[in-house]
Amino acid sequence: MRIGLIGVGRIGAFHAATLRDLPGVDAVTVADADPARAREVAGVLGVEVADGVDALFAGGLDGVVVTAATSAHAELVHRALDERIPVFCEKPVALDVPATRAVVAHAAASAAPVQVGFQRRFDTGYRAARAALRSGELGWLHTLRAVTADQSPPPAAYLPKSGGLFRDCCIHDFDIMRWLTGRQVVSVQAAGGNRGAAFFAAADDVDTCAALLRFDDDMLATVTATRYNGAGHDVRLEVCGSAGTLVVGLDDRAPLPSAEPALSWRPTVPPYRNFLERFHDAYVAELTGFVTAVATGAGSPCGPDEALEALYVAEACEISRRRGRAVEIDEVREKSG
Ligand SMILES: NC(=O)c1ccc[n+]([C@@H]2O[C@H](COP(=O)([O-])OP(=O)(O)OC[C@H]3O[C@@H](n4cnc5c(N)ncnc54)[C@H](O)[C@@H]3O)[C@@H](O)[C@H]2O)c1
Repeated sequence: MRIGLIGVGRIGAFHAATLRDLPGVDAVTVADADPARAREVAGVLGVEVADGVDALFAGGLDGVVVTAATSAHAELVHRALDERIPVFCEKPVALDVPATRAVVAHAAASAAPVQVGFQRRFDTGYRAARAALRSGELGWLHTLRAVTADQSPPPAAYLPKSGGLFRDCCIHDFDIMRWLTGRQVVSVQAAGGNRGAAFFAAADDVDTCAALLRFDDDMLATVTATRYNGAGHDVRLEVCGSAGTLVVGLDDRAPLPSAEPALSWRPTVPPYRNFLERFHDAYVAELTGFVTAVATGAGSPCGPDEALEALYVAEACEISRRRGRAVEIDEVREKSG
């Protein structure tokens, strides 16, 4: 099987290395808008390199992995679908609702599957929490508390093409809460703050945010995210029910030093520093799933229609933090319709 990968930045280089080592993958070819970077990464990883995206497609591919900047995703996914090639696309699918809807429509009309990179669906902790909820062990949920905290911010150049903190980071939380509970968000109230580098405000973005979500069964959720969590990379979900609670992401490497002197348990290993450490196994699992789907002709475990639902919530939060008022999800659906 020949897999092409487009965009060899932070996540692309990691995914290319994973693909190279997966059983059933005979060749990985990478391309990037920056050809020098593509050549350098290909040399380090020992994979093939194409002289641009046109050359990559011209080489003949069984599957395409899109890890370019978010602003380039939709065009690249359309191109793969035009050529009937199965495609894995990093989240979010596009920067806005109309472009995401266009991908959803194209994918629905195509025989080739589109898998979106919501790797938390492949993470053992989130899967265990989902299974516990489904078994009834947690009772009914009253609250979800989600945290997505990067230890250090991305480069300034990343921000203008990222869609902003809600679409770029919290979209993982919006997706996983829907997936875990099977419920829909109906309204949000969100806020953003900027106490870090000036380049966040210059990009019309925030470095820290918080949102309160109401679901269609009256469950409440809080979602917080920041680019400045000095203690380490902290991605958690507290799943709190009438009969029990489970915390996803609370392990030996969770960056949660306790202020309590009486605590008997102390972490013995360094905290996670970034998403590649925190989700290493989940990233491998999601690409194993993609490669298996390419080999077997199976459907996508996480299509762009799912990504669209998560994007509606991110859009609502973005409107809410700008206007300082609660926003109904239906308002976003209808406004963009
Ligand atoms: N699932 C996750 O946990 C996760 C984590 C990090 C990033 N991401 C997503 O992955 C994508 C890339 O993020 P990153 O942090 O690796 O960014 P990055 O800026 O480090 O890398 C992006 C790369 O894409 C290239 N590129 C941009 N436009 C291109 C185009 N039109 N054609 C070919 N190459 C192009 C750039 O030259 C760069 O090398 C983003 O959409 C981001 O949201 C997902």
